[in-house]
Amino acid sequence: MEIKVSLLPEEKRGSVPEDESQLGFGKIFTDHMYTTFFKDGNWRESCIEPFGPFVLSPAALVLHYGQEIFEGMKAFRQTTKKDVSLFRPEKNAERMKDSAKRISMAPLPEDQFLDALHKLINIERKWVPHNPGTSLYIRPTMIATESLLGHRKSNEYLFYIILSPVGPYFKEGFKPIKIYVEPKFVRAVKGGVGEAKTGGNYAATLLAMDKAYEVGCSQVMWLDASEHKYIEEVGTMNQFFVLDDVVYTAPIAGTILKGVTRESVITLAKDKGYKVKEEFLSIDTVTEAIDSGNLTEAFGAGTAASIAPVGELHYKDKKYLINNYEVGPVSKDLYETLIGIQYGRIEDPYGWNVVI
Ligand code: COI
Repeated sequence: MEIKVSLLPEEKRGSVPEDESQLGFGKIFTDHMYTTFFKDGNWRESCIEPFGPFVLSPAALVLHYGQEIFEGMKAFRQTTKKDVSLFRPEKNAERMKDSAKRISMAPLPEDQFLDALHKLINIERKWVPHNPGTSLYIRPTMIATESLLGHRKSNEYLFYIILSPVGPYFKEGFKPIKIYVEPKFVRAVKGGVGEAKTGGNYAATLLAMDKAYEVGCSQVMWLDASEHKYIEEVGTMNQFFVLDDVVYTAPIAGTILKGVTRESVITLAKDKGYKVKEEFLSIDTVTEAIDSGNLTEAFGAGTAASIAPVGELHYKDKKYLINNYEVGPVSKDLYETLIGIQYGRIEDPYGWNVVI
């Protein structure tokens, strides 16, 4: 589909702040965004236009019944060349289509998603920052815009992509973080929407995040909803453990986000010769293994977070120190390889990088 492009005059465009160490995460936005809308059964005009507010009916269905989905992806400035590359963008296009199906929204065709992304990034390529650990975070989003207070799916949608130059998600950088294990509230139930990337999944976790911050943690670890026993995922990441020299992560079984970084880490770990098991571990197994010294490392994996080592778990008023609060060798090895590929520092034998 043709994209109508209307750009800001050169003198009105912004740029990445000179001091890239101050970027933070998701606080500033590039000059332009992509928009398209769905009406009367079809996707309509596509535009790349100046970043700015939308006009939305106060009765828009998204505001009342939460019909919304989004994605998180990154463009990386390649260190070996001047190029910019996307990391496995087809995976996000596919997941967004799956999320749309689960939330009863009109899926945007994957080729349209990818074409829009390429064109927008190409226009905004000067916004991809240069410092190590920085990237251009990409937020494709879809909302239900029909003006209606009756409870049903919308017949109208707005799909848009906005871009934000970012630094590391955690202020610690690649250093261990502390995680609060939530004993009471749950994130997702079997048969629910845990596997979809929809805003409601994140809203439901905010109360527990307050508790996490109170005890000095930056993330919440979620246990399964039926027994409050098995570890599912962490707020912004899929969770991995190294236990008895095996790399464990929870399987994709309906309640867990199908992380693109998760899948990439599993592939890298297997190819490096680590034994990998996609199995649920109970919180008791994990805390006992930390105490006995058999659990040697923990780390999270996500687009925003990249690979984040975990140095401490807080569970039921007890603290469990992991690997003496130091980054372990497996986490470091996987992190170096993942970001090496993403920034073009090392060869990408998987064809994951898509150069724009
Ligand atoms: C991402 O990792 O891209 C996400 O969407 C998580 C978000 C909470 C920052």
